[in-house]
Amino acid sequence: AANGNKAAKTRNIVEKMDETGKNCVVFYGSQTGTAEDYASRLAKEGKSRFGLETMVADLEDYEYENLDTFPEDKVAVFVLATYGEGEPTDNAVDFYEFITGDEPTFSESSEPPLGNLKFVAFGLGNNTYEHYNSMVRNVSKALEKLGAVKIGAAGEGDDGAGTMEEDFLAWKDPMWTALAEKMGLEEREAVYEPVFGITEKEELTKDSPEVYLGEPNKMHLEGTSKGPYNAHNPYIAPIAESREIFTVKDRNCLHLEIDISGSNLSYQTGDHIAVWPTNAGKEVDRFLAVTGLLPKRDAVISVKALDPTAKVPFPAPTTYDAIVRYHMEICAPVSRQFVATLAPFAPTEDAKAEMAKLGSDKDYFHEKISNKYLNIAQTLEVIGGGEQWPAIPFSAFIEGLTKIQPRYYSISSSSLVQKHKISITAVVESVQIAGRTDALKGVTTNYLLALKQKQHGDPNPDPHGLTYDITGPRNKYDGVHVPVHVRHSNFKLPSDPSKPIIMIGPGTGVAPFRGFVQERAQQAKNGEDVGRTLLFFGCRKQSEDFLYSEEWKEYKEALGDKFELITAFSREGSKKVYVQHRLEEYAKEVNELLLQKAYFYVCGDAANMAREVNIVLAKIIAKQRGVPEAKGEEVVKAMRSSSQYQEDVWS
Ligand code: 2AM
Repeated sequence: AANGNKAAKTRNIVEKMDETGKNCVVFYGSQTGTAEDYASRLAKEGKSRFGLETMVADLEDYEYENLDTFPEDKVAVFVLATYGEGEPTDNAVDFYEFITGDEPTFSESSEPPLGNLKFVAFGLGNNTYEHYNSMVRNVSKALEKLGAVKIGAAGEGDDGAGTMEEDFLAWKDPMWTALAEKMGLEEREAVYEPVFGITEKEELTKDSPEVYLGEPNKMHLEGTSKGPYNAHNPYIAPIAESREIFTVKDRNCLHLEIDISGSNLSYQTGDHIAVWPTNAGKEVDRFLAVTGLLPKRDAVISVKALDPTAKVPFPAPTTYDAIVRYHMEICAPVSRQFVATLAPFAPTEDAKAEMAKLGSDKDYFHEKISNKYLNIAQTLEVIGGGEQWPAIPFSAFIEGLTKIQPRYYSISSSSLVQKHKISITAVVESVQIAGRTDALKGVTTNYLLALKQKQHGDPNPDPHGLTYDITGPRNKYDGVHVPVHVRHSNFKLPSDPSKPIIMIGPGTGVAPFRGFVQERAQQAKNGEDVGRTLLFFGCRKQSEDFLYSEEWKEYKEALGDKFELITAFSREGSKKVYVQHRLEEYAKEVNELLLQKAYFYVCGDAANMAREVNIVLAKIIAKQRGVPEAKGEEVVKAMRSSSQYQEDVWS
């Protein structure tokens, strides 16, 4: 939940906008950085196209009681991600509770309280979840109920369908038209104005102690890093153990043990561990080369926000190399809008025209860029025909690329069994695109694989020449380390171990269930009464990617008849066998266990597997209980609301 940053909470957005001469604030509720990104992009576009004086604001940094004093001639934009099962993002919890509360109390008692507030809204959601875009829907409704006036339609982006970016682009143009009309704005020829000023500090070198070379904060720079460790302050954790559980062609499955004994971090079975990646050296070099920065990679620079409301997203003074390696998502899918903004800086007229075309033609963009998995540097290489792009201001990259985000993995160990060691189970996949050998999936998984290879002194490490920085900034990591923190989740075993549980976890979806079963085996050894424990696991072939095949036997020994592993091998016979098919075979027992209040868990792919499991379960319930299918669906819905049905899924 919100981390209660009390000092910042006393801030008044209306005063802040007055002080800084702003007439448009873009609030964001963001968990993984995408909503924050979209907020910055809207703020930039408002400024460059319409001359709006925009600022971006973290919902957590302001109070809401004085939104009733928001002036009539200004506008507020809300960019709101919906998280998990329809929840607000951590930084939006307080705002959400306030604005949707029964009777929010405002500083003045005008009627209606928000009669002066004009707002625009965009939501980021995932239609594979039940409460699709509930944040933006509920907030819009609440604001309107309080008298605020919505401009244009609230937009909804769908990550489930993979159309987030296009949904956003399609929404924003009519929104700008409506906003311009409402506020009497004139569109002008877009002019690029950098948000950040970059100055070279010739008096410093990369060896100067005050220069950040990838350290996440001052304590890390000064070597006095201490807890609490969290999303702003990762723990540099030793990797106690690493191995590959299977290796088939371009798929490797890693098992890592992260040692948290030197931190004050704690976890509970079912939580997530956040891993902070670094970019592959190969991609860092490519980026610096195509932007013409290679000769200056180690030059020390200071980065200042030219706009007092903008925040520099990494600590400085620093170097280009450190920013690109540790702080920017240079391998993420490229944004079409960003490509369009770079057109004026193209090295040739042809490249300029091509960038403009890519920016305005969605299908063309997909064909040339997205479908080929090109990252930003590869895009510039291809479109520039080998020319460098030195005219792009570095500020444009800071503004236009996402700051590096930690990746979350479902912890695959039990905290009862190993309190100070966190297991990760991750599949590293490399996709090879026809004619290209340099398209690699998985920034973080490839980094973890490199750490494993280093730890074991593998004979042929790094076959793709990725050259990860293993020893960290200033070679400070001795041994093999990775920056991490823990995120608590609601995906939890019943507190009473005698309750039955049913788990569905194909592929790496089995990760948290290894933790669950490990825990129950330990409880059984401790003499506790453990309930029926059913695990449905699926993979391609028994001999290929059957995760922890030996370990399950140990757990079986401890749990006896209480534990049953039910497997679905999809590529062994002529017909696909999936976990949901095996679930149907167990219909009778599954229904009986559910009537005994068994918890039902699903982990893994959200788009297909989790959805199909839900449908199959509803059918099982209907058939076994002799009720219509619609009733079966209702039962599953009710199970979800009461947390008897829990999901930990990803797309
Ligand atoms: P497949 O790749 O052979 O289709 C782990 O990835 C396992 O989940 C694999 O055996 C995979 O099978 C299977 N799988 C793929 N799609 C699925 C779906 N819609 N429902 C359940 N399992 C699925």
